[in-house]
Amino acid sequence: MGKYEEQFAEWFGGERSFAFWKGRVALYAILKAMGIAPGDEVILPGYTCVMDVNPVKYLGAKPIYVDIEPNTFNINPELLEEKITDKTKVILAQHTYGYTCDMDVIMEIAAQRSVPIVEDCCLAFGSKYKGKLAGTFGKAAYFSSQWNKPFTTGIGGMAIVNDQNLLQKIEELCSSGMCRPSFKEVAMLAAQLMVYRAFVYPRTTAMIQTVFRFLTSKGAVVGSSSTAEFKPIMAEDFFKAMSSVQACSGLSQLKKIKKNISHRKKMADLYDEMLQEKGWPARSYDRSIMEPVMVRYPLRIGQKEKALADAARAGVELGSWFECPLHPIETPLKMYDYTPGLCREAEKASREVINLPLHPRTNEKTIQRTVEFITHFAPPD
Ligand SMILES: Cc1ncc(COP(=O)(O)O)c(C=O)c1O
Repeated sequence: MGKYEEQFAEWFGGERSFAFWKGRVALYAILKAMGIAPGDEVILPGYTCVMDVNPVKYLGAKPIYVDIEPNTFNINPELLEEKITDKTKVILAQHTYGYTCDMDVIMEIAAQRSVPIVEDCCLAFGSKYKGKLAGTFGKAAYFSSQWNKPFTTGIGGMAIVNDQNLLQKIEELCSSGMCRPSFKEVAMLAAQLMVYRAFVYPRTTAMIQTVFRFLTSKGAVVGSSSTAEFKPIMAEDFFKAMSSVQACSGLSQLKKIKKNISHRKKMADLYDEMLQEKGWPARSYDRSIMEPVMVRYPLRIGQKEKALADAARAGVELGSWFECPLHPIETPLKMYDYTPGLCREAEKASREVINLPLHPRTNEKTIQRTVEFITHFAPPD
C-alpha cells in the first residue's frame, strides 16, 4: 500500500484504502468486488453525476433513482423503501454538497431489507453525522479528488472498505486487471496541476473552465470525462490506477486537510450570515445531528441561466451542478434508464440551484462579492 493510501485510511480510522485514477473507478471496483452483475439493481439519488451511474451500467445492472429531499439534496428516506426489490443489491448513499444523508433512517431500512450501503463521499470529505465521519457507515465508501472536489489531485479517486471479504476482493481486482496511466497522461496532468495552482482563482475560474473544456474536447488535456464516457459503455482503459503525481499531490493535500475543513466551515457560515442579512434563506439542515463540510454552497435562485451568464462575464465564480438529474445536461437520460418526471424535486433543484465557492482560495471578500452579486437576483418563487 502506498503512503497516500496509508494516510487516507488512517484519517478514517480504517486499515486499508485503494487509490484509483478517478472516483468513478473506485466505485466500479467496489461494485465489481461486491459481485454486481446483469439483472441486479442499484439504488441511487436522481440528483447525481452520470459518471456515478456509469459503473452501475458497465456491470450490466440497472440504476433505480430515488427523488431527493429538497433541503439537503440527498436521497429522501421516505421514498427509499418502496424502491427496494428482491433485485436490489446496493444502496448508494450520496452525501450531496457535503450534507450527510439521514444515515440512521437509511441504515435501518437497509438492514431490514439486508441491502448493503456504499457511501458516495465525493462531495463530503470530513462531514459528520452524529459525530461520525461520512464514509464510515457503509460497507464501503469512495471519494473523488477531481478539480472541484474538497481537495484536488487534478483527477483522482479513493475507496475505503469496511469489510474484510470485500477488501480482499478489491485487492485481487487491483493486482490483476488494472491498467496504468500512460506517460503522456501523467505528464499532462502534472502540467495541468501546475497551471491550476498558479492561475485558478475565483475571478479566473469561469474563463479557465471554458478554455479547459475546449482543450478537453480536442484531447489536448487530461479531461475529467472523455466524450466516450457519456455513453454507458466501458472503455478498455477505464479501470486505471492512480499515478504517483496524483498520490504526491494527495499527500500534500492531506497535510493541509484540517485547515481546508475549518476554512470551508467558516466560509459557509459567512454565506449563511450575509445571505440572511439580505433577507435570503441560509442553509437548512438539522444542526443537532449533522456537521457538514460543504464542497460548495448550494443556493436556489430565480433566473439561474442569467445569473450564470452574468457571473461569468463579471468574474464571479458560480457553479451549476447538477444541471439535470444525471449531470451534465448533455447526458442521454434514456440510455441511463431515467425518464423525465421520475424525480420531481431533483428536476426542480436542477432548474434552481447554483453553487458558490468555499475552496481554500476564497476569503471574506470573495464571499461578500458573491453575495452582493447573487442578491441582485430574486430567490425562486
Ligand atoms: C456525487 C459525485 N460522485 C462521483 C463523482 C465521480 O467522481 P470522479 O470525477 O472522480 O470520477 C462525481 C463527479 O464529479 C460526483 O459529483
